[in-house]
This record gives sequence, C-alpha cells and structure tokens, in this order.
Amino acid sequence: MKIITIVGARPQFIKAATVSRILRNYPGIIEHIVHTGQHYDDNMSAVFFSELDLPQPSINLNVGSGSHGKQTGQMIEKIEEILSKEKPDWVLVYGDTNSTLAGALAAAKLHIKVAHVEAGLRSYNKHMPEEINRIVADHISDILFVPTQHALDILKSEGLEKNSLLVGDVMFDSFRYFAAKSSDEHLPEIIRKENMEFYLATVHRAENTDNTERLKNLFTAFSMLDKTVIIPLHPRTRKMIKNLKISDNIKIIEPLGYLSMIAALKKCEKVLTDSGGLQKEAFFMKKPCLTLRSETEWVETLIDGWNYVVNDNIDLILETIKLPVPAKQESFYGDGNAAEKIVKFFTSMINR
Ligand code: UD1
Repeated sequence: MKIITIVGARPQFIKAATVSRILRNYPGIIEHIVHTGQHYDDNMSAVFFSELDLPQPSINLNVGSGSHGKQTGQMIEKIEEILSKEKPDWVLVYGDTNSTLAGALAAAKLHIKVAHVEAGLRSYNKHMPEEINRIVADHISDILFVPTQHALDILKSEGLEKNSLLVGDVMFDSFRYFAAKSSDEHLPEIIRKENMEFYLATVHRAENTDNTERLKNLFTAFSMLDKTVIIPLHPRTRKMIKNLKISDNIKIIEPLGYLSMIAALKKCEKVLTDSGGLQKEAFFMKKPCLTLRSETEWVETLIDGWNYVVNDNIDLILETIKLPVPAKQESFYGDGNAAEKIVKFFTSMINR
C-alpha cells in the first residue's frame, strides 16, 4: 500500500511525526511525505523534521506565502502532478490548513482515497480560513479519524458517521511521547538564565494578526499582566506589530521547536493563546489557558475551568488570569494510542 502524506505547517509536522513513526514499522506500507512549503523558515519547519525524527520530505513544493487562493491553488496544481505520477492508494492529510485543503481536493478529484486526521472540529465561524478548510476536507474524505466524542457527534449531525472512526487525539500521542524527551536543556535561553515566573503566549491567527484593533488590545492586556509574558512569535505577527509599543514585561522571542515549547510550557504559570494545539497542550500539562479568540473548537478544555475564551477583551483577560488552578481534570482525548489505531485502519485495508 502506498500512502502520500501532505504536510505544510507546524502542527502537521508534529502530528505526522507520530503517525509516521508507527507506519514505518509496517513493511507492507510505503509512505512518502510531501511538504507543501507553506511554512518555510527553519524555525517553523526544518527544526521539526530534525528533532521529531520525521523523515525528510520526498518532495518540497516550495509554495511559500501568498493569498489564500494563490497559495492553495499552487499547492493543488503541484500535488495533482505528484499524485498522477505516484498513484498512491491513499492521501493522508492533517488538521485544517491550506495544505490540508489542497491535499484533500487534489486527491479527491483524481479519485484517490483521502484520509483526514483531526476530523469533526468546528468553530462555526466561517471568517476563519481553517473552518472552511476542515469542512471541505471532512466532506470529501473517505475516512475521518476523529479525536473526540464531541467531534464525532458533529460529524454524525452532518451525515458523515459512516466514514468516521473515533481514534482519539494524535496530538495527545505526540505530546506524551515528546514531553518524555523534553527537559530543561531545551528551555529557551531567556527562561533558563533568568529563572522567572512567566506566562507563555502565542498569537498568529489571521483574525488577530490582520486586525490592528484586536492586536493592540492583546498587547495592551499583556502589558498589564503581573508577570513577564514570553511570546515565541510567529513571523506573520512579528510583521504586524512593528508599530505597536511593546512594554518591558513582554519578551518576544523566535518561534520555538516542539521540545523547547514543551519545556517552556512545563515552567510557565499560565498560557494565553489563539492556537488550537497549544490550548490542548496547556490542558495536557495542567496549565490554565486563556484563549484569545471568540470561540474554541476544543470545547472539552472549558470543562472545570482549564480554558476560558476571553477574546481580545482586556478586562476579561485581567480578571481571568487571577483565577486559581482548577482542582480536577477529566480525560477526553483518548488513551495516547490514536496513531496506532490510524495505522491499524490502513493495515486492515491492505489487499482489500
Ligand atoms: C497556518 C494555518 C493555521 C495553523 C498555523 C500553524 C492556514 C490557513 N492556516 O497559519 O491553521 O494553525 O499555520 O502555525 O493554513 N510566514 C513566514 N515564515 C514561515 C511561515 C509563514 O514568514 O515559515 C509568514 C508569511 O508572511 C505568511 C504568514 O506568515 O504569509 C502566514 O503564513 P500561512 O502559512 O499563510 O498561515 P499561518 O498563519 O502560519
């Protein structure tokens, strides 16, 4: 069986590393990794391949940045060429980025089977490019690997139950595996040197970075917090904050590799983020999270007060950060063997 995995952005490298490590154990399966080039800076891409032991991509499409149409269109054209030549049995896509959409569309149009990992998430906010990407990917895929019961219920309500397989969250598998490998030596220098109490923050979503008012509100709230705020900053956001005054308690650093991010997460007091993945990693690490968006797809994290949707509301951010760490936590994201279950599905399809 031949599988072509399409990746392009940070969270996909992290999830694909975990599935790919297990796929490699099965001689009956050949996997080729295609990198769209959506993320291209070394600290957004290369570092993940080296430190997560993800096999180097067979092909890098070098698509790079651009408007959504241009970026996605170029990807589809180039992926179609590869798929026509390689004729894989399956195309495996992850999450909700433009790379996910392009991989799924190119394959479906060629009648190649599509497998979508992290299916069934919805924010019900179509202003997010990610929402459009995942709805389309879910509806044109042949198998949907579903992370949570909530996501499965959503897929059922959209009539997609027969293609859905509840396997648990691959991100949880990845987190468990790499948290065991991450230690203080991976800490960013600023944290190692100064040994301070800090909040860990990230901001990169288009809805925040492309809206000057929201971006200003977020950085004003950070400046009013009672501790240092360490922000490993996405290059997109770095470009957009050029004209903002950044107060002294905000420390902007380069984007971190995964082991460094986990090390920083272990040491931080709380997390403020608009990332999907980091909301859950905070939950796994039992760190309270403030989500800098108007909604979250990961609704389970809200239970018992591990995560609060605070949007760009300065007063709400300042109030919520003071809340105590919750006393209990339920488990929602599977047993850490989601990748095994995904691979089992593929092995069961060999010779069928
Ligand atoms: C993408 C995904 C988002 C995911 C995120 C993870 C889409 C629509 N969004 O958002 O779902 O959570 O990845 O990080 O696919 N840039 C660089 N260097 C890089 C990569 C990007 O400078 O290595 C800059 C470029 O100016 C680019 C901008 O960041 O235009 C945005 O990058 P893009 O890949 O479009 O989306 P992300 O914001 O990273």
